[in-house]
Amino acid sequence: MARRAHCQHSQWRKMPLTVLAKTPLLLIGGGGHCAAVIDVIESTGIYDIVGIVEAPGVTQTEFMGISVVGTDDHLEALIKKTPHCVITVGQLKNAQLRKNLFNKVLAFGGQLPVIISPLARVASQTEIGAGTVVMHFALVNSLATIGENCIINSYASVEHGSSLGSHSHLSTRATLNGDCHIGHSTFIGSGATVLQGLSVAPESLIGAGALVTKAILQKGTYLGSPARLSIQNPKDSAC
Ligand SMILES: CC(C)(COP(=O)(O)OP(=O)(O)OC[C@H]1O[C@@H](n2cnc3c(N)ncnc32)[C@H](O)[C@@H]1OP(=O)(O)O)[C@@H](O)C(=O)NCCC(=O)NCCS
Repeated sequence: MARRAHCQHSQWRKMPLTVLAKTPLLLIGGGGHCAAVIDVIESTGIYDIVGIVEAPGVTQTEFMGISVVGTDDHLEALIKKTPHCVITVGQLKNAQLRKNLFNKVLAFGGQLPVIISPLARVASQTEIGAGTVVMHFALVNSLATIGENCIINSYASVEHGSSLGSHSHLSTRATLNGDCHIGHSTFIGSGATVLQGLSVAPESLIGAGALVTKAILQKGTYLGSPARLSIQNPKDSAC
């Protein structure tokens, strides 16, 4: 069931004669990150959210007025009806859940569009992989490359010439300065900064507020300013 839009102003007399049909879209994963992505999707005006797919065992029937249409166990049948999907589970310490869901969607013949908030700025000469969501007020500057299934969260910046590997999450207000290269499946916490020209090993976790001043060659959890290795193998979790 599509979500009901709440219109405050009656605009029907001003509507153009041709109204383009919106693309039906399935969201995979409820929760806080899903709530934020719903607002981004709605602000694009391109998609009609037809339902949310929850984790097995979840009994909730709706979220923010959107029907829960099944669990991951029903994904194949749901994707046959609605091929376009967005992974809306969050990512904190570990990318594995988002990665598994991404691969499942592709294996079932689904499609993962790039979602870009109209309030974000993405420069023209950039590359962004399938399934990545660029949230409100984020910046992806010229010559940046973003992999598949990434989250570029609200107010995050990816400066010129930088790359972010697939299945990574650049959290709210995090900054990659120019020409940084971040490996796949990495989490960069809120407000963290990576100084220009540095690389970060795949599957790393950079804590909120950290300042990365040297290349990170070994995966692990890095905290503080300057960022230092704190834990070698971070625990699992999603946000
Ligand atoms: C790095 C992080 C994942 C560690 O989480 P955790 O393993 O659950 O760690 P805890 O909260 O148990 O804290 C362990 C210790 O590390 C310290 N610590 C936690 N996060 C820290 C950070 N970002 N920087 C510096 N120290 C930190 C805690 O104060 C605590 O210190 P103590 O042992 O002296 O009391 C987490 O704190 C973090 O930074 N998360 C990112 C949150 C975020 O950016 N979310 C974005 C959503 S969009």
